[in-house]
Amino acid sequence: MSDDDVSASDNGDDTRNDLRNDTRDTPLLSVRGLVKHFPVKRGVVISRVAGQVRAVDDVSFDIARGETLALVGESGCGKSTTGRLILRLIAPTAGAVRFKGQDIAHLPDEPMRAMRRHLQIIFQDPYASLNPRMTVGDILAEPMAVHGLGSEAERADRVRELLAVVGLLPEHARRYPHQFSGGQRQRVGIARALTVRPELIVCDEAVSALDVSIQAQVVNLLQDLQKRFGLSYLFIAHDLAVVKHIADRVAVMYLGKLVEIADKAGLYARPLHPYTQALLSAIPRPQPGLQRQRILLPGDVPSAMNPPEGCRFHTRCAHAQDRCRREEPALRDAAPGHSVACHFFETLPRPEEAVAAPGGGQSRFALRLAAYEAARGRGA
Ligand SMILES: Nc1ncnc2c1ncn2[C@@H]1O[C@H](COP(=O)(O)OP(=O)(O)O)[C@@H](O)[C@H]1O
Ligand code: SF4
Ligand SMILES: [Mg+2]
Repeated sequence: MSDDDVSASDNGDDTRNDLRNDTRDTPLLSVRGLVKHFPVKRGVVISRVAGQVRAVDDVSFDIARGETLALVGESGCGKSTTGRLILRLIAPTAGAVRFKGQDIAHLPDEPMRAMRRHLQIIFQDPYASLNPRMTVGDILAEPMAVHGLGSEAERADRVRELLAVVGLLPEHARRYPHQFSGGQRQRVGIARALTVRPELIVCDEAVSALDVSIQAQVVNLLQDLQKRFGLSYLFIAHDLAVVKHIADRVAVMYLGKLVEIADKAGLYARPLHPYTQALLSAIPRPQPGLQRQRILLPGDVPSAMNPPEGCRFHTRCAHAQDRCRREEPALRDAAPGHSVACHFFETLPRPEEAVAAPGGGQSRFALRLAAYEAARGRGA
């Protein structure tokens, strides 16, 4: 595909020149001390703020150009809120989000509108985010019109081109979202994100609702697009098998905080935080007949309105000590590129090594990986 046939008319795109001045060493995205508290109101007649949901509480990370950072953790831990803060779909309570060095958390509305085209999002349920009364052709042309990109004819050309890029056919432009399968609709969602030539895409559980073989095809498509266009992804997921396939680095979130961040190989081979160890123990090992000893966490995730004092994980941690109940652990370097927020990670026992799975047999994880490889082999 020629990547230049709809050039950005610079109308309203006053962030472009600023963005050209970036240096190669600045991370594409830099998040520092990001906080989002949602006020909880009570009362029908006189409503008053009864508390705060501490959805995201002092989160920091970087994403390099062309990199995929996965953000994982149980439902409700603040992943989607983090994604929405990065795109500034919601305003942060505190903290900075820098895109190529420019703080977009505090950018005025007008330059922010222009900045938006560099940052896009793909949702879990494309059906909910695609207008059912618009054809796919109109859905794809609309963001280009909003950002003043190309003439009408150029936009129509670009729609055809984008459909091909995501593996759909030119005639699909005339169809409506309900006329597609789930996997095809997610391809439309991806094409829509690509219309404005973004550099960073937040994939919020983008493949979580799809069948395994379709997941594999969409993950492979995302990886191909990343190589082709130099995209960076924040890949939000709860399925660590999918993450193992796509991520370069992984950040683990618990109750609004990052508890561990590392490159993929380091995290999967040597998870240091007891929460990461528990999450990883839930996926069987890829070798047939072997699985990790499952670590079951006691109790439920505490409320984000009243997170535990000290280490937020202490109510479920088998290794909690007095200090954990009093003092919050900071993220500390454990190895190059590997940070963990646990007072005692140096001395904690290593989780049990792989043991033979009862009955041998191929694990679910092995089957998933095989499905990915098969889909890749078919050129999906
Ligand atoms: N608009 C909102 N108002 C109040 N609470 C919210 C809002 N959005 C999210 N939350 C709360 O913030 C926490 C984090 O939610 P979310 O970011 O959606 O988590 P995840 O994507 O990891 O499942 C949850 O406790 C959720 O109920
Ligand atoms: S700081 Fe304490 S409670 Fe928190 S993870 Fe480490 S050992 Fe467990
Ligand atoms: Mg979510």
